[in-house]
Order: sequence, then C-alpha cells, then structure tokens
Amino acid sequence: MGFIEELKSSVDIVAVVGQYVRLKRAGGGQRWVGLCPFHTEKTPSFSVHATHQFFKCFGCGIGGDVIRFVMEIERMTFWEAVKLLAERHGIPLPRREFADAETRLRAALYRMHELAAEAFRRGLQESVGAGARQYLAARGVSPRLQEEFGLGYADASGSTLARLLEREGFTPEELEASGLLLRRADGSFFDRFRGRLIFPIHSESGKIVAFAGRALEAGDEPKYLNSPETPIYRKSFVLYNLHRAREAIRRLDQAVLVEGYMDVIALWGAGVRHAVASCGTALTPQQVRVLRRHSENVVVNFDPDAAGAGAAERSIQVLLDESVRVRILELDGGLDPDEYVRQRGAAAYQARLDRAPGYFHWLADRARARWDLNTTEGRLSALRFLLPAVQRLPDRLERAAVASELASYLGIEAGSVLEHFRRSAERKQAMPAVIKSAVRPVEKILIQCLLARPELRSEVAAELAGLDLGALATRRILETLLALEQDAGYAELEARLEEGDRELLATLVLADEVSEEALTADQAWACVESLRTMGREAERNRLRSLIRQAERVGDLEEAMRLTAELARLDRS
Ligand code: UTP
Ligand code: MN
Repeated sequence: MGFIEELKSSVDIVAVVGQYVRLKRAGGGQRWVGLCPFHTEKTPSFSVHATHQFFKCFGCGIGGDVIRFVMEIERMTFWEAVKLLAERHGIPLPRREFADAETRLRAALYRMHELAAEAFRRGLQESVGAGARQYLAARGVSPRLQEEFGLGYADASGSTLARLLEREGFTPEELEASGLLLRRADGSFFDRFRGRLIFPIHSESGKIVAFAGRALEAGDEPKYLNSPETPIYRKSFVLYNLHRAREAIRRLDQAVLVEGYMDVIALWGAGVRHAVASCGTALTPQQVRVLRRHSENVVVNFDPDAAGAGAAERSIQVLLDESVRVRILELDGGLDPDEYVRQRGAAAYQARLDRAPGYFHWLADRARARWDLNTTEGRLSALRFLLPAVQRLPDRLERAAVASELASYLGIEAGSVLEHFRRSAERKQAMPAVIKSAVRPVEKILIQCLLARPELRSEVAAELAGLDLGALATRRILETLLALEQDAGYAELEARLEEGDRELLATLVLADEVSEEALTADQAWACVESLRTMGREAERNRLRSLIRQAERVGDLEEAMRLTAELARLDRS
C-alpha cells in the first residue's frame, strides 16, 4: 500500500470533517449529513459516507476523499493537506515523498514558473524594463501594485529565460512541457514571451501556473499572449486573481467578474478586492463552479463595447446555468472598470456596484435595442430571446413577477407569456425525471452489493458477461466495478470513472441508505437474475422490431429466420 492509501485508511473522514462541519447521522448510520461548508445553504445537502470514506455536496457539487476535503477547507495544496493529516494523526511522513512521473513533472513546472516569475520581476526593475515601468506608471499602476501582482517584463532577446532554465538543469522534455519556451527546428529553445509586460496567473492555492504577456508596442500582435495549456494549467478552471480575491468574495458574499487583467488590478488598487477575470477565454462552467464555492452572487462588469456586451450576454447564460445570481454593472461614459476607477474614483465605482441591477433588465434593454417592439415580429423575437433567461430565475414567485413585467414591457398579454413559460417549464421538468428513473433499483442494489462484497465480483462478472448492458444508465460504473481488483474499493472505482459517472455513483450510494448487512450475496444474485430477464426482454423487443421491419420490406426469409430466433429465446 502506498503512503497515501495508508494515510487515508488510518484517518476517519467523519472525524476530520466533523472538526469543521456539524454532522448528524442519517438513516442506517454510514451516512452523515450537515450544512455544506463550501456554499451557503439552509437545508443540508452535504453528506459524508463513513464506509466509502468520501464526502459529497449535492448543492454545490463538491466532493472527494479526506485529502480533498482538507485541501478545500484549509485551502491547501495536495502535499500540504497530506502533511497536515499525517501530523494530526501521528503518522510519520516518508522521508522521500512518494511521487510518480506526473507529480515530478508538475513539480518541475511549478518550479520553472517560480523561477520565470522571479526573472520577469527582475527584468522589470532592470534597465531593459524602463519602457515597461514607464508604461505602467502612465496607466496608474503604482510600484506597490506591481509588486502585489508580481508584474514583470520579458525582454526582447528571446534567450534570457531559456538560458536560465537550461542552466537550472531541467530536461528538454520539461522545458518543452512548461509552455514557457518554444523550440526551433534545430532543437534549441527560445523564450515564448519577448518584449512583453508579464502578468503571472495563479492557481486557487496561489501557485503560479501560467503567464499572460501584454504587447507594449502598437501593432505587436496579439495584444495579450497567454501561456498554452500545460500539465499545471487548465485554462477552463482558472480565474485570474481568485487566490487573492476569495477571502473578500467570501466575506462580501459577492464576486465581480471583469474582462481584463488590468481591470482586476486597477480595481484592487481602488480597494475593490473581490474582482476576478477569466484568462483570455470565454467564461466556462468550470470557472463558475470554482467561483461559486466562495459566493453565489456575481456582478458582471464587462467592457462597454459591443464585444464586451456580447461576452456579458454569453457569460450570463453560463452563470445562470450554474445557478448563480447575476447582476450587471454597466458603467457610464463608455468606460471599462480600469478607466472608471481611475477617472471617477473608488467611491463612485463602489456606488455603481451597489446599485447594479439584476441581469434581466439589462437583457431586456438589449432586446429593446435589437428589435423593433412596435411590430409583432419584433416583440416575438424579443420574447424568444428573453424567455430562457426568465426561466432560469431560481425562484418561482420571482419568475412569475418577471414574466408579467416582461409582458407589459413587450406589450404582450401576460397570459400568453405565462403560457409560453408553462409549456417550456413542463418540457424542462420532464427531462430530469427521465434521467432519474433511468437508474433501476436493481442497478443501485447490485452496485452497492459489489462494493460491500468484493468477493462476489468475479463470479458476477462471469454471469453478466454475455449480457448487453448497453441500456443501463450505470453500465460504465458496473463494468468498471466488475473489472476492479479484489482489494479495490469505492475510491479506486471513483478514480477510474468520468465526471458524469462519478456524480451518478455518489448519488446512488448516498441516496439509498442500505445497511451493510442487507447487502447479501443472495441480493446480488437476485439482481443479476433480474438484469438477465431485462436483457432477454430487450433482446426480444429488438427481434420483434426487426421482424416487423423485414415484413415491411417483404424480406420473408429474414423474417422467418428472426422468428425462429425469437422462439428459441422464448424457450430458453
Ligand atoms: P482587452 O483588450 O479589453 O484588454 O481584453 P484589457 O485587459 O482591457 O487590457 P488593456 O487595458 O488594453 O491593457 C480583455 C481580456 O481579453 C484577453 C485578456 O485576458 C484581456 O485581459 N485577451 C485580449 C487575450 O487573451 N488576447 C488578446 O489578444 C486580447
Ligand atoms: Mn482595458
């Protein structure tokens, strides 16, 4: 057993979580519930499973093992969390930390980014950085702010960083994987960032994972050059400035979403400490989920130009899809956040922020500008544009109120808006019901039996081998589980699953509180039997429809062959 597994098996997750969250026993006793520490909620949707040693919140989606929990709650890196748990439980740390190739590569990349950030910072202070310093001064970024954000300058030579990193002894593979250097045809390396102002980009725990470089010369394209994706940088998960801002985001229970690095920095300088930006990509659902751990209230404050408004519109949809409450801050005078705080001051910005209206009115204004509401066609187009956003309003009463407001705004009868509404609400509701009922009780029980009784797995696998599990919602979970080694449990299963299946697994393990004793071999075999019956029934249906099809096209020979096959199946 590796050290990590050893640590996890000697630590009780219920006891660890219990230090941060008030947990109550639920049902049979393996499951504990409480209010989620990672998002605001009034009724508990946060569970800890004692047997399978994991936690899961159905409110905000967060979940994982005990190390993950400590990482999140203490805002620590993996190794820091491991260290803390080992120390608290008196488990000696191995002198040489276990590390696989992936971990070692990542460690090298982190180190390279630290070295690079230092080199860039030095560059900004040295004589080559004079132009960049001047530029920052002209944009009102004080030396103190430069220091806080770790700003730097990559000189134009293209060799400074390459030389430094080569001198430090990183391998060519590591140099290439870092994204900091590019390779010439002859295999030699040169710097990706040349003659640019540098903004370090941090992970949530504050490690530097990437850089953005702003051009200083007009005509130098692109304006912002960003690091590529690397083993330590997944763009869709990272928000610029989150590691600094999350304290304030939690305290104020609000985040401000802006477009640019410079906006974030200028706002910070003006005392607005809860602004973040996505790094050169459109806002992703993953970024929203990260943000929502800290607050469910987001004020979107994008540039006032057409591109900014378009991006705001798309961001609203993404935020609403993740159940975030959205307000829109539109600054007057055609100013972006950076220009606004510098020209009008922090107090003026704060006042605008406090008065930022809900997203709906902003969207409605966009609709009014886009379509002619004097025509029926225009009104309908506007209605179609706005309805999805209204439907995403979380509260039913609020939704009804906005619907009638929308009706009067568009000059449409309120009844017809509500009718539109009801119909698509019905469609929407029908969806999850189908998905839910798609997992049959036998699947749930069988999966839990096989988790509790690993010794049954190989026999059950043999029994199910000939069966087409294709129709089962839990097919991949079952297949993975059956292929698992004897001594592997919940954590190993989870680790081998894709995101969607992980959710499904957690849901069915937590939702059905079955006591361990009830999960007998007999139960498992009964499930196998009923899966077999289901499989046969599905096969029969398939044959019947093939027979009908053959008859329709007049292929009687085929129809007879299939009928014989069906009869054989019925006999067996
Ligand atoms: P802006 O062009 O609005 O930049 O792009 P900005 O941050 O306001 O910069 P200044 O004020 O002109 O210096 C907004 C964001 O879009 C991304 C960057 O994340 C930038 O901060 N972007 C923009 C790129 O990734 N590449 C580009 O070429 C331009
Ligand atoms: Mn700008």
